[in-house]
Amino acid sequence: MARLLIINGPNLSLLGEREPEIYGHTTLEEAEGHLEERAKADGHELLFFQSDAEHELLKRIHKARDEDIALIIFNPAAFTHTSVVLRDALLAVGIPFIEVHLSNVFSREDFRQRSFFSDIAIGIISGFGMASYDLALLAAKHHLG
Ligand code: DQA
Repeated sequence: MARLLIINGPNLSLLGEREPEIYGHTTLEEAEGHLEERAKADGHELLFFQSDAEHELLKRIHKARDEDIALIIFNPAAFTHTSVVLRDALLAVGIPFIEVHLSNVFSREDFRQRSFFSDIAIGIISGFGMASYDLALLAAKHHLG
């Protein structure tokens, strides 16, 4: 039994209505409910957090130190391409994490092809819509043995 934290960055609270041709029609709430059931079936506990604010995401990552979190599944959204702050936070807490994107960031604009997280992540899953989170959960299970 492991406790995992799923963190979503800015604008992901608008999933379902935000650019559905890229991000699909499922809301974040629906996705979290689905993931929670899957994790429960595997005997894992999931905690969820979403924020549009960099400092809130930073504080959530810091808090994870005291919560026995085995692994973080992280979609930094637009902060993927900008945030040294969140990169440093993950390095500071030392909790392994998987970087997740709904879209294939490498098939999009040039600025999305740079990530401040990929080289320090266990791995990256990008391009499978909401299934990216399912795949990340599978990868987390595999990583945790
Ligand atoms: C995203 C990709 C980012 O480039 C973008 O800023 C997002 C979502 C994704 O899940 O595909 O907000 O992280």
